[in-house]
Amino acid sequence: MKKILVLTSGGDSPGMNAAIRAIAKLGAAGGMQVFGVQEGYDGLIDGRFRELTKALPDGHLTVDNEVEAAGGQGGTLLGSARSSRFREVAGRAEAKKQMDKVGAEGLIVIGGNGSLTGAHALAVEHGVKVMGIPGSIDNDIGCTATSLGVDTALNTIVQACDHISDTARAHRRAFLVEVMGRDCGYLAMASAVAMAADAALMREQGKSEEQLVQDVAGIIRNGFARGKRRILIIKAEGVQVSCTKLVRLTEDLMRLELPNLEIRATVLGHVVRGGNPSYSDRAVAGRLGLGAVQGLVSGATDEMVAWLPVVSGGIATPDSSVQRFPLERVLEETRALIDGTSPVTKRRLVLMGKAAGVLSL
Ligand code: F6P
Repeated sequence: MKKILVLTSGGDSPGMNAAIRAIAKLGAAGGMQVFGVQEGYDGLIDGRFRELTKALPDGHLTVDNEVEAAGGQGGTLLGSARSSRFREVAGRAEAKKQMDKVGAEGLIVIGGNGSLTGAHALAVEHGVKVMGIPGSIDNDIGCTATSLGVDTALNTIVQACDHISDTARAHRRAFLVEVMGRDCGYLAMASAVAMAADAALMREQGKSEEQLVQDVAGIIRNGFARGKRRILIIKAEGVQVSCTKLVRLTEDLMRLELPNLEIRATVLGHVVRGGNPSYSDRAVAGRLGLGAVQGLVSGATDEMVAWLPVVSGGIATPDSSVQRFPLERVLEETRALIDGTSPVTKRRLVLMGKAAGVLSL
């Protein structure tokens, strides 16, 4: 291969730039030009490409300074988008034309469910050589233990909750903190455990508004009865009742019982998605980048590189923590993660159920 493309699509995540840098460096080292596609699939359709490698006077390749520096930064230097045009057959055909025009022999897609679905469609409909890298803070992608950005997002949440806990203890207050995670409550669950929060509320638990209010009231009642100074409940964005509504309904319910009760709500929102990638996200990004480039060069296509530090039956690569899986299987497992039929989701719910009684102590 002499020329490949890389794009980032969907919600950005810390570590995307580190993966882009790794891909550019690996390309340069292998004598392969690497072009970045601006703003995801929209840029692919419009043919908006920029070279990330550059030729030295002696003919060897190196990487652009901006690419080098961006590796340690959050967001994505290529820009990202959720492309409605690419969801159409005509949009994908145009994207293929643009790839041919620039002479690209392969495409690496860094992103979440929608982005990987797009990559699969390009491979199936047009025979494009594609390799996916999981990038989403939500950790809702099948076949991989983690995706780029999850570790950084959790560090951000833990730091924010530490700050909130300081002020909560000072005033003996209950806090409801909302974290991102539209379809998957992993960030809420994992951060609740790390914070020894009183509870995690996740969409997957399938609780009604009434149950949620009863649960939050019960946690607050028991916590303060035990003499706690901080009550911390972490709610995933996917839980349909908003933080402010949940606070209002709980305060109304407990008004007579605890007249001085003060519950505060904090929605962390996009704060959780930005920031410089953690060591772990940078390291995983580099190794998944390597797996993706090696995969393409070896002739593999329509696959995703996954971070799986344990052996689990995937196609082995020279990195024992990186395995490749067919995108079709990845997308199937992603659907199951989200609709709750995946054993992974079921296990997470069981574990959280068991942890609930301990966390609230
Ligand atoms: O990247 C995934 C995600 O962060 C979800 O957790 C969240 O619901 C969504 O993206 C927010 O998207 P947007 O940036 O379009 O508001």
